[in-house]
Amino acid sequence: MHWHILGAGAIGCIWAAQLYKSKHDVTLILRSKERLQQLCESKGIIYQSLNAESCAYNVGAELVKNNTPIKNLLICTKAYSTISALKSVAGRLTSDANVVLLQNGLGPQQEAVKLFPELSLWAATTTDGAYLNAPFHVVRAGHGETLIGMISKKKPLTYNDLIPSPCGDLNISLSANIEHKLWCKVAINAAINPLTALNNCKNGALVSNTVLTKKMQTVCQEVEMIAAACGQDLFDKPLYEMAISIANATAENYSSMLQDIKQKRPTEIEQITGFLCKQADKLNCNAPENNLLLQQVKQLSTAISSA
Ligand SMILES: NC(=O)c1ccc[n+]([C@@H]2O[C@H](COP(=O)([O-])OP(=O)(O)OC[C@H]3O[C@@H](n4cnc5c(N)ncnc54)[C@H](OP(=O)(O)O)[C@@H]3O)[C@@H](O)[C@H]2O)c1
Repeated sequence: MHWHILGAGAIGCIWAAQLYKSKHDVTLILRSKERLQQLCESKGIIYQSLNAESCAYNVGAELVKNNTPIKNLLICTKAYSTISALKSVAGRLTSDANVVLLQNGLGPQQEAVKLFPELSLWAATTTDGAYLNAPFHVVRAGHGETLIGMISKKKPLTYNDLIPSPCGDLNISLSANIEHKLWCKVAINAAINPLTALNNCKNGALVSNTVLTKKMQTVCQEVEMIAAACGQDLFDKPLYEMAISIANATAENYSSMLQDIKQKRPTEIEQITGFLCKQADKLNCNAPENNLLLQQVKQLSTAISSA
């Protein structure tokens, strides 16, 4: 089984390294000769594990415009690039291709199903943590779980038809209702990310600062109402309680949205809060706090990128 990986960022490099380590065929798809040159200079993917040991994996790579067929494709770009990334290689996909979209947020998955009804499309969500400290130098920041489930309306394959086993240190399971898992992740991200990004604070401040805690509670109530209107029953307990316990457990962390703002990178706000606000509009739900956060994060993002 040969896997192509499009999106050689932190998550893409983890997957490429772990597939390679487990002796599966894996090829990175890069979008420029400069990126190929960087991979060559770094002598493959340098993977730093939690115990700070580094290992080099000489993973092969090719350009998007290569014309060899693709049977299994994993897309691990940020959510705002998913559709353009998929379109860039659509002509290379075999008629029986499997495509896995591994992103935070919602929206691109549904758009992909509409645009490519003939494909076997899967969505994935992960609690793994990683970051790049240089191109193709990936640092593992945490070991979590990756859930994968089919989103296209085709006869589902069995798990072993899709994911090669073993797959290094990745902990992967099949989910019968991946849409629900993606909703839960979006709900938690909507509760924590915009407020931490706007207030330049660690996740723990959402618990220790009463003004922020109150705002998070309002955000959670709105998100729960939107989810219910969309037929999604999120957690066994109220979203606000879940968000408090996650903010507590990750009190010393900076959310990914705040890190994007600090590094002047685009954020995934449109695929998180933006997705929820669109659903609220369609269903005539009132979500003023989420709409305000959406506008504020977009303004901050624009101000920072043009500074
Ligand atoms: N990192 C984590 O710990 C973590 C944890 C859980 C979930 N996630 C989610 O996983 C997803 C990926 O995150 P990440 O941290 O790996 O992002 P990332 O480090 O920013 O990597 C994204 C990569 O996608 C590449 N890319 C974008 N558009 C492309 C295109 N059209 N063709 C080819 N490559 C393209 C970029 O390449 P260039 O370098 O050429 O721009 C970049 O290397 C996000 O949705 C994120 O929220 C991440």
